[in-house]
Amino acid sequence: MGVSFDKIDGVSWLKFEIQPAANPASEKDRAAKLKDPGFGRVFTDHMAVVRYNQTEGWHGARIESRANFPLDPAAAVLHYAQEIFEGLKAYKRDDGGVNLFRPDANARRFRNSAERMAMAPLPEPVFIEAVEQLVRIDRAWIPGGEGSLYLRPFMVASEIFLGVKPSAEYIFAVIASPVGSYFKGGPAPVSIWVSENYTRAAIGGTGAVKCGGNYAASLRAQAEAIDHGCDQVVFLDAVERRYIEELGGMNIFFVFDDGSLSTPPLGTILPGITRDSIIALARDSGTRVREEPYTVGQWRADAASGKLKEAFACGTAAVISPIGKVCSASGDFLVSGGAAGPIAMGMRKKLVDIQYGRAPDPHDWIRKVL
Ligand code: PLP
Ligand code: COI
Repeated sequence: MGVSFDKIDGVSWLKFEIQPAANPASEKDRAAKLKDPGFGRVFTDHMAVVRYNQTEGWHGARIESRANFPLDPAAAVLHYAQEIFEGLKAYKRDDGGVNLFRPDANARRFRNSAERMAMAPLPEPVFIEAVEQLVRIDRAWIPGGEGSLYLRPFMVASEIFLGVKPSAEYIFAVIASPVGSYFKGGPAPVSIWVSENYTRAAIGGTGAVKCGGNYAASLRAQAEAIDHGCDQVVFLDAVERRYIEELGGMNIFFVFDDGSLSTPPLGTILPGITRDSIIALARDSGTRVREEPYTVGQWRADAASGKLKEAFACGTAAVISPIGKVCSASGDFLVSGGAAGPIAMGMRKKLVDIQYGRAPDPHDWIRKVL
């Protein structure tokens, strides 16, 4: 396959064989798809693939035409759900170049997810190289304006067997999808439903890693949110059922009348890269940020008294989305009178300006791919 395995700076490195798609989308077809891509429905021409087995280790690194995977019906992922994924974006700069935002953090989290799920850890440089190669070959698919190219690295267990044990074989791949806003209303305030029937994660479980199973388990609660006219579900802790954890696919922040922020502590939630970036940016400007438990009851009381000024959700897909309304079986309440608050919108602009290369990057988060 013409693949070589070298060591650069002592790090194991795979060279990707690049096989451009024989039938890429025409320029006209691509332009039509990029007009209003929505989220996660349009895909680029290529994908990155790297395979793992115990004799060869990571091997067969390729950039190739996006196509189906042949999977045996006994492939382990289809039975025991050994699957992990990541989400990051490529942003087109005004000068025509392309930025990735903290891909090293995604690579590290992917490795942690692999370890928790007893999967083969992918060397972080291979993760980053796969993402960069895919962005380069599919650069024509990166939307301009406020759009971006959402990158989805993932890994599945591909060994063929029916006993319960960690798979000895894996497929790692990256696909790419040009996206607009995750929510239909863009950065307009979203409504959330407090799930009192279902929990997402318990101590010792998999809440802190990005495995597909976490999302499978969240879908019923998300459906309940939709049934109640809400955009997203918010989960409570699994022990006392009163501490706010996170949304189905986003972390959460609260803004108080003294200007401070708070966000639930790490442990059973996904350690969001957007969450971490917001904490850093807020602290840069002298804002106090607490990582501490907050109950839904306190949230309701603070919204009523005016102590709580704003709440917002954050994540790669959602960026920063103000929360305008909270609904639950015990009644609804508004946050910021249902409007987008200035702190959420200001933080959104600060973050997005760094991502698109319009503002200085004091933390060295940007990786220029092109
Ligand atoms: N929490 C969950 C459950 C998520 O799926 C995501 C999205 O990846 C986040 C939080 C936010 O993480 P990040 O900011 O790294 O995208
Ligand atoms: C992301 O923000 O990247 C996610 O994976 C969350 C999902 C809701 C799309």
